[in-house]
Amino acid sequence: MKILVVGSGGREHALAWRLAKGGHELVVAPGNPGIEAVATCVPVAAMDLDGQVRLAIERGVDLVVVGPEAPLCAGLADRLRAAGVPTFGPGADGARLEGSKAFSKQLFARHGIRTAAFRVCGSVADADLAIAELAALAAPARRGVVVKADGLAAGKGVVVADDADQARAAARDMFDGRFGDAGARLVIEQRLGGREVSVMALTDGIRVEILAPAEDHKTLLDGDRGPNTGGMGTVSPAWIDDATLARVRDEVLLPTVAGLASEGVDYRGVLYAGIMIDDAGAPWLLEYNCRFGDPETQPVMARLEGDLGAVLHGAATGELVPGALTWDRRAAVCVVVAAAGYPESPRTGDEVTGLDAGADLTDVIVFHAGTARRGGAVVSAGGRVLGVTAIGDDVGAARVRAYAAVERIGLAGKQFRTDIGARGR
Ligand code: AMP
Ligand code: GLY
Repeated sequence: MKILVVGSGGREHALAWRLAKGGHELVVAPGNPGIEAVATCVPVAAMDLDGQVRLAIERGVDLVVVGPEAPLCAGLADRLRAAGVPTFGPGADGARLEGSKAFSKQLFARHGIRTAAFRVCGSVADADLAIAELAALAAPARRGVVVKADGLAAGKGVVVADDADQARAAARDMFDGRFGDAGARLVIEQRLGGREVSVMALTDGIRVEILAPAEDHKTLLDGDRGPNTGGMGTVSPAWIDDATLARVRDEVLLPTVAGLASEGVDYRGVLYAGIMIDDAGAPWLLEYNCRFGDPETQPVMARLEGDLGAVLHGAATGELVPGALTWDRRAAVCVVVAAAGYPESPRTGDEVTGLDAGADLTDVIVFHAGTARRGGAVVSAGGRVLGVTAIGDDVGAARVRAYAAVERIGLAGKQFRTDIGARGR
């Protein structure tokens, strides 16, 4: 097949790399310097909806895979399907699962999916009341309250507050415009305890195919300290066992797909569930993303066997056949190399060296996330610059390999966590 992948990050590099290995011809728009090794990159921005539709038609692609959430929320998949192009990614209606936290929490509530108690608030006074109420809830809550901007905020619109004072300050900050219109409405919720896992599932609107789970490391610093980021590293397989994963499928994913369908939403794409497993082993749904995780996709693609292109095409055309994907039994670890200043104000334009040296190691793939070409050099062009991904017989072996490659990468002021994969299972 000829496949167009929309996007330019590490997730899109990992998808293109895996699809190319399946023998498919890849066009990626806009892509990045790493992706050029496996695909034809065309400089059409992800948010240039007209340009993407034109490109898909001009190139006569059999399938479009949309990477990022913003074009999905803006209706790119609807536009492509209207033009007759099979597309993997939900329409704007389904993408509201990620685009509006209020919409998604209300959907979970309507369909009986276990989620933290919440209130949707439109004013400081509402928020203060909700915080007082939610901070007082007992188990399975942890002390504290979580304050979330309703709209898209590049993964930064969530404050996990330890107490009501912090929560009130965060709510005021958001209403004051910290995240622009995304913070005009807030979701305030009970803080849950437990351990997190990211579960991604492919769906054609009816059936689901669960991908190998991965565990993200969201905060900037070792030991889960520091500010939240888009993700500093991932491990697959995650610690979750098969029985708990089956509960995630039966109690979270399948009710979501059925609930969406019952409300007239034909969801064809990824449901990426952020799940908290409580001490009793019950899954709580934190949130959905309407696209593949970044950097979860990197280790997951490293382990995937089978023809991903055929499965994505099946999901896009309503004919998903579950069970077609198999997984390398070994483990994969992805360590994100981020720019100086990330996440607040990442510095760009620094030269990245050692890319070949890193990738020359056996079972190491250096996925580019935020890079650009400047003359003959590769330079940083975003907060998360690379996703250095390695495979090993177990998490420990994969981790050693990934860090050996990270050591070979040169980037002034580079930041990375040293404890990705060190938690054990
Ligand atoms: P979200 O964007 O909703 O996934 O939130 C980002 C991160 O905040 C999650 O990955 C969790 O680590 C944390 N978080 C979100 N909601 C809660 C909650 N109700 N209780 C505890 N932590 C949460
Ligand atoms: N790694 C978190 C995300 O993709 O949203």
